[in-house]
Amino acid sequence: MFRGVLTKSQVQMVALLSIAVLLGAIWKATSQPLLSTREQLECRCFPGDDCWPSSEEWSRFNGTVRGKLIATVPLASPCHDSFPGVDYDPDKCADIQANWARPSLHFSTMHSPMASFFANQSCDPFTPRDAQCIVGTYVSYAVNASSASDFRDTIAFAEKHNVRLVIRNTGHDYMGKSTGAGALAIWTHHIKGTTIFDYASPGYTGKAMKIGAGVQSFEAQAAARASGLVVVEGDCPSVGIAGGYTQGGGTSPLGSKFGLAADQVLEWDVVTGKGEFLTATPNQNSDLYWALSGGGGGTYGVVLSMTVKLYQNQPTAGATLSFTESSDTYWDLVRAFLMNLPSILDSGASVYFQFLPGNVFSLPQSYFLGGTAQDFERLFQPTLRALNQSGIPYEWNSRNFPGFQDAFHTLNPEMNISEVNLGGRLIPRSLVLSDDSATSLVAAIKLIVSQGGIIAANSMDFHRPPTFPNSVHPVWRETVFLAFLGTMYNPYNMTDNIRDQHIITNVFDPALEALTPGGAAYLNEGDIHQPNWQDVFYGPNYPRLAAIKKVYDPNGVFWGPTQVGSEAWEVSAGGRLCKTRN
Ligand SMILES: Cc1cc2nc3c(=O)[nH]c(=O)nc-3n(C[C@H](O)[C@H](O)[C@H](O)COP(=O)(O)OP(=O)(O)OC[C@H]3O[C@@H](n4cnc5c(N)ncnc54)[C@H](O)[C@@H]3O)c2cc1C
Ligand SMILES: *[C@@H]1O[C@H](CO)[C@@H](O)[C@H](O)[C@H]1NC(C)=O
Ligand SMILES: *[C@@H]1O[C@H](CO)[C@@H](O)[C@H](O)[C@H]1NC(C)=O
Ligand SMILES: *[C@@H]1O[C@H](CO)[C@@H](O)[C@H](O)[C@H]1NC(C)=O
Ligand SMILES: *[C@@H]1O[C@H](CO)[C@@H](O)[C@H](O)[C@H]1NC(C)=O
Ligand SMILES: *[C@@H]1O[C@H](CO)[C@@H](O)[C@H](O)[C@H]1NC(C)=O
Ligand SMILES: *[C@@H]1O[C@H](CO)[C@@H](O)[C@H](O)[C@H]1NC(C)=O
Repeated sequence: MFRGVLTKSQVQMVALLSIAVLLGAIWKATSQPLLSTREQLECRCFPGDDCWPSSEEWSRFNGTVRGKLIATVPLASPCHDSFPGVDYDPDKCADIQANWARPSLHFSTMHSPMASFFANQSCDPFTPRDAQCIVGTYVSYAVNASSASDFRDTIAFAEKHNVRLVIRNTGHDYMGKSTGAGALAIWTHHIKGTTIFDYASPGYTGKAMKIGAGVQSFEAQAAARASGLVVVEGDCPSVGIAGGYTQGGGTSPLGSKFGLAADQVLEWDVVTGKGEFLTATPNQNSDLYWALSGGGGGTYGVVLSMTVKLYQNQPTAGATLSFTESSDTYWDLVRAFLMNLPSILDSGASVYFQFLPGNVFSLPQSYFLGGTAQDFERLFQPTLRALNQSGIPYEWNSRNFPGFQDAFHTLNPEMNISEVNLGGRLIPRSLVLSDDSATSLVAAIKLIVSQGGIIAANSMDFHRPPTFPNSVHPVWRETVFLAFLGTMYNPYNMTDNIRDQHIITNVFDPALEALTPGGAAYLNEGDIHQPNWQDVFYGPNYPRLAAIKKVYDPNGVFWGPTQVGSEAWEVSAGGRLCKTRN
């Protein structure tokens, strides 16, 4: 995630990128004007194909799922003239444009992905009134699911008719996993409900929460708080807690204290690709438990609910820091701060900071559950001393809050969707332990930022092994921060976004890769064009994850970009999903 709005001059700097322009198609382009017999056999059926279900078949299916089938009407259709049944409405359109950055506008729909890149301007609120408004890369239909039988019926229909299947929860995904042209979605958003209870198993005795697939972080956290507890969640309160977040690993402002979100899971209730309803725990269907806990969302089954550990709430300290300086002293201060991180994290605190164009350092959030403002003063002493000695003005604040949620709501009052062209890397602690390596890291950060990139860092310590083995990339255990990097998405110019994505793949990511050979990136917050993604996102776990997918999804009904097993299919120009040709 990336927080905050850039100033106008920062946006101009981003726009002033002066790197060689490398143009290319968004999707691997294999142009295909007409459908050959081979393609009919080897592609998912697409709207307009003979094999696409007839309206009678969709209608019968709607009966099977008791009227829960919804056809996509694009969110921004009032901004255009051409979507059947929707009139152009300038007031509604202005409202949609004004609120486009708000997650709720998207997560309340069954189709709109928050990462606009994957909507491919199919029906965009910022294109001219006479621009296209089509279903395009949105899913065609979704089932507003409420039960395991809805999951099973939808999987069965998709398989029978060879229709692409997508699992959609909130639509936060940055990698395009929760949308797809010509797809039928299982929409989990309305599967709400949390229960707090005492849990006892060989590995864990204590408070736990059972969380429905559609529950969002803010709902789970509110339930925990009401019982004097906390639950591990991410920075964005509207992310789905049991969906892509926890299944993909899940960083958290509580991460240094308790580990990744996937480390918290006690049980999964899941419908597999074969339509079986299973409970997966460390002892029962343990291979499925292992894969779901960190091996990526939307791959092995559709989760109906998960059960996670809870912890006692405690007084929590929060701190913020910012400074800016045009001279190279800025980079010396950045290095001093980076080398200060290990001792901050070892205390149990987690830190979020950003490097913005124009030598702007901003640390809008850090949390220390069980710590005090004075602890934070002490922990940040090396950084504050260096700032003090430099004579550069800085803003520092540390405060006490009665509980974690109070700190979180105050320091993170409004989390908008962050529209970015994205890349990223996990930065190992070893890079901030010596002057030499920290200097190299600073040089790479400088290279990225000076060419218009922005970097946001989720810094937490995960070295403690999880209670139960799981499939998060092992590099997380030696990570000092997740570098979330990229450029701001330009809603007015797709060419710019495609160019920026190439720069990220070919310049920004490699700057950090060069320092982290054999390293990793976060599968939920990385580059959609990441070379060697199987190893970079999943590491040594990939072969086992691929084997487990074959067991629980033998027909490959679940597919999404960069998911385990996804190399078997590819999206061709026009959006059709076809088997990969070698
Ligand atoms: C503003 C913002 C802030 C973020 N902050 C953080 C953060 O602090 N830490 C962090 O780790 N991540 C963060 N993320 C990334 C987030 O974890 C991913 O986007 C994640 O994929 C969202 O999961 P979702 O279920 O809400 O979204 P969706 O986009 O609906 O789904 C994402 C993926 O999960 C799959 N999925 C969803 N539900 C299920 C289910 N019930 N069963 C099986 N598969 C399912 C989908 O098929 C898809 O592949 C952030 C993202 C945004 C946009
Ligand atoms: C499914 O049925 C419900 C209830 O009859 C109806 O409201 C809805 O429009 C139908 N969905 C589709 C896609 O036709
Ligand atoms: C979030 O987006 C809304 C709507 O665009 C905007 O009014 C608000 O200022 C944004 N808030 C932040 C913190 O960026
Ligand atoms: C989806 O189903 C829920 C009940 O599970 C209902 O409250 C909601 O209105 C439905 N949404 C749509 C768009 O049909
Ligand atoms: C910074 O310097 C001032 C005096 O110059 C001193 O009062 C203050 O305690 C110093 N702060 C830190 C964090 O070193
Ligand atoms: C998009 O930006 C590029 C330069 O980056 C420019 O050449 C092109 O004309 C722009 N396209 C539109 C539609 O504005
Ligand atoms: C994205 O849009 C472009 C331009 O309209 C189109 O040519 C391309 O086929 C679309 N891509 C997908 C995957 O639908």
